[in-house]
Amino acid sequence: MNNFIYEIPTKIFFGKDQIQNLGAEISKYGKNVLLTYGGGSIKRSGLYEKVYAQAQTFNLNIFELGGIDPNPRISSVKEGAKICKENNIDVVLAVGGGSTIDCSKFICANALDEVEDPWDYFIGKAKVTKALPLITVLTIAAAGSEMNFGGVLTNEDLKLKLNTSNPILRPKASFLDPTLTYTVSKFQTACGAADIFSHLIEVYFNLKADFFMLRRINEALLKTVIKYGPIALDEPDNYEARANLMWSSSWAQNGFLKAGDAINWSCHPIEHELSAINDLTHGLGLAILTPKWMEYCLNNTTLPIYVELGVNVFDIDSSKDSKTIAYETIQKVKDFFYKDLGLSDSLSKVGIFEKDFETIARNACKGKTLNSFVPLDQKAIEDILMMCK
Ligand code: NZQ
Ligand code: ZN
Repeated sequence: MNNFIYEIPTKIFFGKDQIQNLGAEISKYGKNVLLTYGGGSIKRSGLYEKVYAQAQTFNLNIFELGGIDPNPRISSVKEGAKICKENNIDVVLAVGGGSTIDCSKFICANALDEVEDPWDYFIGKAKVTKALPLITVLTIAAAGSEMNFGGVLTNEDLKLKLNTSNPILRPKASFLDPTLTYTVSKFQTACGAADIFSHLIEVYFNLKADFFMLRRINEALLKTVIKYGPIALDEPDNYEARANLMWSSSWAQNGFLKAGDAINWSCHPIEHELSAINDLTHGLGLAILTPKWMEYCLNNTTLPIYVELGVNVFDIDSSKDSKTIAYETIQKVKDFFYKDLGLSDSLSKVGIFEKDFETIARNACKGKTLNSFVPLDQKAIEDILMMCK
């Protein structure tokens, strides 16, 4: 086991009506607030009015940046930072999902520096050195951005999607009211569950085998997503299901499960380039890639991890032969994505074709090798994409 430092300081307000504490929490950081949000779901759900009611009670001055896209664009970061600079913004309030929160993290950074093109943070040309405080109100259980310090942005001109991180960007506080996710569509709920599942699997397959405690917690979270994802699809206002998914999304991706391990992921960097090429929803891309990636990586050395997953998470009979268990495990993962969540199982079904595979693979590994669980060079990634076509 590695040595590690545990520090996850985001303050969480979890549960129904926690929004009542929003104004007081924001006031700790100042009066001038940039409210960021996506394409309008917060207006349709009535959340927008609730935010303004809090602002009125606490005499906050709200400025706005709406229209942040799923697969958020770097141009939105520029726009948000400009509003912050022009209006002496003290704190950014992101209301939405991973896209709005990720974008807001880099608005917070760019608001306080002179970096002209925030894409430079993502290509190593500029460093995040300081940031405005960020508070989030989460409206969809998926990315985990509400409790971590990473973000993924799309460069619309270059058709690239990259991630970067810095502890300065971790939200100061996040409001997690599961009832706010009742209005998330079936499709987005399914994609969110697939994303949480993938975060857990990426860590599970890469974590050193000796961290027994973290492996068992990871399995408990996987079981939670497998149980409650389909319930949330059938009963959108099932509080228990929405609450379990929401808290799982945060814990799957806040760093706790990695215990300081510098874990390299596999499916995520590939998926980000699928999204960059055709604006695919992140969780859907992961659902298509993950089972084929598991098939590609299965060999005599990696076999034990498939068995561990199959027996402990999918309750496959441990007395069966290891290879049988491994194949059954992959089938269970497919069943979860395609039967339980109803997601598509091939790239052609979502409009991504062979002609783009070379570019996607090159961008995913940046011409090098993804040094994850099973190292993947460009050719290996192209092979996996072919298996997904
Ligand atoms: O834009 P609005 O109108 O709000 O609609 C959104 C959007 O269309 C909708 N939605 C969200 N909450 C809703 C709702 N619709 C109705 N009712 C609600 N309560 O859902 C759609 C998707 O929103 P988005 O923010 O894109 O979802 P998600 O949380 O899945 O975020 C995806 C982004 O996060 C990145 C992904 O790459 C992607 O860009 N990720 C960020 C990570 C991180 N920071 O750690 C890790 C992840 O692996 C991921 O890469
Ligand atoms: Zn993800």
